[in-house]
Amino acid sequence: MHNLLPASARPMSDGHLMVGGCDTTELAQRFGTPLLVLDSMTLEAKARSYTQTMGAGRVFFACKALCCVALCEELDGLGLGLDVCSGGELATAQAAGFPAHRIVFHGNNKSLEELQQAQRAGVGRIVIDSFDEIDRLTKIGAPLDLLMRVTPDVATDTHESVQTGQHDSKFGFAFGNGVAMAALESLLDVPNARVVGLHSHIGSQIFEMSAFRLAVSRLAGFLSAARDHLGFIAEEINLGGGLGIAHTSDQVSPRPEASVEAIRRAVTHEFGLRHLPKPLIAIEPGRSIAGPAGVTLYSVGTVKRLPGGRTFVSVDGGMSDNIRPALYGARYEAFLANRMNSPLGAQVTVAGKHCESGDVLVRDVHLPDDVQPDDLLCIPATGAYTYSMASNYNRIPKPAVVMVDSGNAVEIIRRENYDDVVRLDRHLDGTPVSRGTS
Ligand SMILES: Cc1ncc(COP(=O)(O)O)c(C=O)c1O
Repeated sequence: MHNLLPASARPMSDGHLMVGGCDTTELAQRFGTPLLVLDSMTLEAKARSYTQTMGAGRVFFACKALCCVALCEELDGLGLGLDVCSGGELATAQAAGFPAHRIVFHGNNKSLEELQQAQRAGVGRIVIDSFDEIDRLTKIGAPLDLLMRVTPDVATDTHESVQTGQHDSKFGFAFGNGVAMAALESLLDVPNARVVGLHSHIGSQIFEMSAFRLAVSRLAGFLSAARDHLGFIAEEINLGGGLGIAHTSDQVSPRPEASVEAIRRAVTHEFGLRHLPKPLIAIEPGRSIAGPAGVTLYSVGTVKRLPGGRTFVSVDGGMSDNIRPALYGARYEAFLANRMNSPLGAQVTVAGKHCESGDVLVRDVHLPDDVQPDDLLCIPATGAYTYSMASNYNRIPKPAVVMVDSGNAVEIIRRENYDDVVRLDRHLDGTPVSRGTS
């Protein structure tokens, strides 16, 4: 369990979990539950483990893992760049005053408006993903620095929904049948577009470094052919993100330094082999920075012991604040943050409060046998792809997010209330709805 907790987490003698010098039971009282608690120390340590190893390279935090103004500000201070994949993520970075030249703009279906927004903002790189997008570029006219996204056909040891590097992916241009070469040729013809290099992201929650090495080898092979056919030389390659993290005690998070080292060595080897100039390397980690920094606190509401069957411990959140178990079958662990010293008993199932049988956060976990309403349940390693995928299913308000550091807790995303839930609704006659109270 302890390998899943943020760096600053400490169990106290009274059985309470402390994170960032804050007692989680006090955080729950002050900010309510469900509550996503982000440990600033872990964010910084993970970010630095990439930036210090990358040297002259570039590290862009993948905003899709978790996106809000304060996090953009924190990452700016740490010298990272941002990978955004929508106008909304870009608008968030802009609201944080994030330097646009350190932003990479992605998306398999960027609208003309989004491309114009990115160009006006002055983003450092736009990653081109389709022939339609190449057509759209011609309507922009202004100068743009581009990467071309390719799918190097690398199978990864991860859930199919988070595999992106296979040839029939919706992302990028496949190497097979000359598609990527034809795309590069068209892109090189777009006036005012400077093609800086290639981008590849092979998937997420990857534990095997060999997948990154294979991707580099395929990119180098393609670039060797591109040099011969089109005289194209890449200044930069961006290998995306994807490094996995442990969500359960039986898993071990690979070290960020190990993935960077594997990529760097592969680039030196594969580009050297083909007598290609060594490009600048960029990466886009998301989960491996934000994931381990976050724990989610829930209040236990009901405990239902089915005679001869499961015990369901239901909490005050669920699939609306963490869709991953329902979407990908993701596994987590849980414990009571208010009684870490209580002996563990039989296995229970931690369920959410949504009207779906599939709304289960943790299928089998040992909690104290006397788990009861008002206990504080904690699910660790939940900083990534939880809040960023949150919904208002069943019209449940989204939780708050707090950043903790040295005994201070700052609410960086306020909890939604019922006014927020109905704020976009209109009456039958089209007039706005006003609830009056929250
Ligand atoms: C293009 C791109 N870059 C980076 C990432 C971040 O991946 P991860 O959070 O697994 O590091 C993703 C995730 O889907 C992605 O699509």
